[in-house]
Amino acid sequence: MPSPRPALPRLLLLVLLALAACRPDPPPPRHGDDLAETPAVSFPAAWPYAPDPEPVRAPRGMVATTDVLASRVGIEVLEAGGNAIDAAVATGLALAVVNPEAGNLGGGGFMMVRLADGSVHAQDHRERAPLAATREMFLDAEGNVTDRSVVGHLAAGVPGTPAGLWEAHRRFGTLPWADVVQPAIDLANGFEVTVRYLSTLEAARERIAAFTEGTRVFLPGGAGPALGDTFVQSDLAAVLARLRDQGPDDFYRGETAALIAAEMERGGGIITLEDLDAYTAVWRDPVVFDYRGYAIHSMPPPSSGGLTMAAIAGMLERWDLGALGWNTPETIHLMAESFRRAYADRNEYLADPDFVELPVQVFLSEEYADRRAATIQRDRATPSREIAPGIEAFLDESHTTHYSVVDGDGNAVAATTSVNSWFGSKVVVAGAGFFLNNTMDDFAAKPGTPNQFGLVQGERNAVGPGKRMLSAMTPTIVEDANGELFLLTGTPGGATIITTVLQSIFNVVDHGMNVVQAVHAPRVHHQHLPDLVQFEFGGLEAVTVRALESLGHSVRERDPGPPDAYFAGGMSGDLQMIMAMPDGSLAGWSDPRRGGRALGR
Ligand code: DON
Repeated sequence: MPSPRPALPRLLLLVLLALAACRPDPPPPRHGDDLAETPAVSFPAAWPYAPDPEPVRAPRGMVATTDVLASRVGIEVLEAGGNAIDAAVATGLALAVVNPEAGNLGGGGFMMVRLADGSVHAQDHRERAPLAATREMFLDAEGNVTDRSVVGHLAAGVPGTPAGLWEAHRRFGTLPWADVVQPAIDLANGFEVTVRYLSTLEAARERIAAFTEGTRVFLPGGAGPALGDTFVQSDLAAVLARLRDQGPDDFYRGETAALIAAEMERGGGIITLEDLDAYTAVWRDPVVFDYRGYAIHSMPPPSSGGLTMAAIAGMLERWDLGALGWNTPETIHLMAESFRRAYADRNEYLADPDFVELPVQVFLSEEYADRRAATIQRDRATPSREIAPGIEAFLDESHTTHYSVVDGDGNAVAATTSVNSWFGSKVVVAGAGFFLNNTMDDFAAKPGTPNQFGLVQGERNAVGPGKRMLSAMTPTIVEDANGELFLLTGTPGGATIITTVLQSIFNVVDHGMNVVQAVHAPRVHHQHLPDLVQFEFGGLEAVTVRALESLGHSVRERDPGPPDAYFAGGMSGDLQMIMAMPDGSLAGWSDPRRGGRALGR
């Protein structure tokens, strides 16, 4: 007969088992957690960006921007006790000084904020069309599109950046407003000219030189500053000092407003004091969708980024992209087919939600993803002309730059801001020292006709007074399966922004890349029309291109441009990524395509 088991150990065992049952499950493993892990991908032989640099690591905060001077400002604000929102606002203003081709006061953008308490907020400070704007304002007498939506005074929408940065700080900032504006004033009073600054100026020199004020401010003496010179922007410093002292009242109702209105009168533009006074930044409900257990939070309309990503991710989730392999013909084919379908719907249906009824829930629905994905054929590209916009039945139902900031408490900001083209409309407001955007070109100047990014957009995004033009800007924050902060990502790149941001997420989630690899990996793009799979110069092997062509895709390598350019030609995007690591530290990387820098503390 077996002897009875002693009672005490059994009790102990039960207690231990009960305790074990109460302990929460260990968190599921996340991709990217092991930074040293090299995924089973190698980049094409001709690709300039290696997969193996060490990411920037930091325990208490990180700022990733396209310009080291701006990243430094963000870090200094964190060092001074500011939170991520303080640092982001200061960084945004610094970019307006050192990076005038894209950073701005005279443009607009979007900001995603995730606070340490897990709440997520989306702020829209997109430009608005002036009240005197008309649907036909960019057409000539024959009804053809002119270049007036791209160059000159009519190209400018009412700027949103000063209102947006002020409002973000008012709601979530902790340092005094003056402290977050001051670093930009200091830079405007003189910063040492970098190769980066000169190379962007060089690229737009002729177009800037067509305007007197731009020439006076940015090309003084005809040539402009040389490498290492201290470049002083005294008009801009004065505008920023008034922003520091009077908040946005000066820009929208005061002396700066008067300078903008006078510039408009002089140059035949239509932005008035009334337009400026009427401008407000808007908090909107973020778009959130699940992708393989990760929650992706991004911008809602008038950005098309969040909804278009949701549509693409919804279609792609039925295939195991990881198993199919990174940038294999199979994976690129499935991405291109999903991009093509989602962009067809984006281009047709999305616009300013304050003016047009949008099928928001459709873009987020499984039914939509199922129906759209069901038409994807594994062995054949569907020509774009066969992809009509696919939501009609549901309607009745109802030059850019990105920066990412995380502070030591886990507050996070992903912001994308733009004047649209580099240096916007090329119009500098006389006496104010900043460029005005040319974001009016993001409207469909003539529905059905491509804009400067080749996007063929529809009626809903036609020009209208007071309306916000549709954007592709996609600042994005990703949470892991436990709802914890995981990734911040975003980029410029016009129509390619959405596919670039999404590929940065696929690279981590599906292909297990670390943050450096996810940024460096060459990218592909499809936007429905033109019917092309585009890829970065040197970004695909010839054998992959041939395999895609045999599926019926037209494939185009981006033009590398002049060989002596500072930025490698033929590239798209400028990702600024930060990854929150399981040990509480941060890993970040700034895209080498435009020479940025992630800094930590
Ligand atoms: O809002 C948009 O979609 C465009 N204005 C973005 C322009 C852009 O990214 C240009 N930079 N490369």
